[in-house]
Amino acid sequence: MENQFKEIIYYATLAPSGHNTQPWKFSIKDNSFLIYPDYSRRLKVVDPDDHALFISIGCALENLIIAANHMGYSAKVEYFPPTEEKDCIKITINKDKVEIDPALFNTIPNRQATRSKYDGRPIPPEDLEKLKKVSHQDKVSFILFTEQREIEPIIEFVKEGNVLQFRNKSFVNELISWIRFNKKDALTSSDGLNSASMGLPYVPTWFGRFILNNLVTPNGEANKCERLIRGSSGVALFIAESNDKQSWINVGRSFERVVLKATSLNIKHAHMNMPCEEIEIRTKFQKHLGLKDEQPLLLLRIGYSNPMPKSYRRPVEEVMV
Ligand SMILES: Cc1cc2nc3c(=O)[nH]c(=O)nc-3n(C[C@H](O)[C@H](O)[C@H](O)COP(=O)(O)O)c2cc1C
Repeated sequence: MENQFKEIIYYATLAPSGHNTQPWKFSIKDNSFLIYPDYSRRLKVVDPDDHALFISIGCALENLIIAANHMGYSAKVEYFPPTEEKDCIKITINKDKVEIDPALFNTIPNRQATRSKYDGRPIPPEDLEKLKKVSHQDKVSFILFTEQREIEPIIEFVKEGNVLQFRNKSFVNELISWIRFNKKDALTSSDGLNSASMGLPYVPTWFGRFILNNLVTPNGEANKCERLIRGSSGVALFIAESNDKQSWINVGRSFERVVLKATSLNIKHAHMNMPCEEIEIRTKFQKHLGLKDEQPLLLLRIGYSNPMPKSYRRPVEEVMV
């Protein structure tokens, strides 16, 4: 039983997280799992309100539920139960018959943020429908943009957000602190952004830092984002009904199911979150979409390309309380 519980946590740890910070801790109590936010792994600059941290927790939660269901357990989720000492999510599992989509579980180890150029092939409408269907989650809306006239204004928001971010020294410093510029560092830390998964060659850390500090320009990065979106088959957006922890977690749950389903259909995804991260641009983006209090929180490009090298994860023992 204990081994099976640890196996379920292993699948949870394969979830995506902002800068691959893996901001989670787990514990097992009787027939329940507890997931705690690990605030020591916050991204203070790019995510000052922790929305991305809780989206990442939502992704880990969804993987945990999918793995538990796959192993024959039903899962009951309680958000921040007052009976627990610390803020956490409690998942109580019981041996039960549950309906499962095997594709979701089977693709957990293969899902990745694929940051390469896509080939622009359109996605068949029936596959877009499958993504919409699997996205359903309380307090979350999911929109797919495939028409060029809808995507054009989004490109402008992405570029504007990107320029703001790369002009901000604190943003660049935070990003650099999570890049693992060579294989040794990537393997030792087993977290952070593995250079190879970003399509960059392995280099000594001092050299990587020099390049990012001196040769990467805000406009150069923005133009690169534009080319990448133009080469994609579409853009996907996740919107939270309100700006609170539970809605953020639910965005993570919906996002994780969509990208697992997409992976099973050979559709790749990569983040273009800049307009969601920069509050000034998010406000303009909200207005453009006709939203009031609802928050556009995750923006992805989707399409077809070959897989990239994977990012690493810390072993289960390291994320147990
Ligand atoms: C909430 C959230 C925000 C993210 N933001 C970005 C982003 O702005 N740019 C980016 O390239 N990747 C972004 N990512 C992808 C992560 O960097 C990626 O999940 C992590 O490095 C682990 O890699 P993997 O998804 O390939 O396993 C984000 C992921 C999450 C969950």
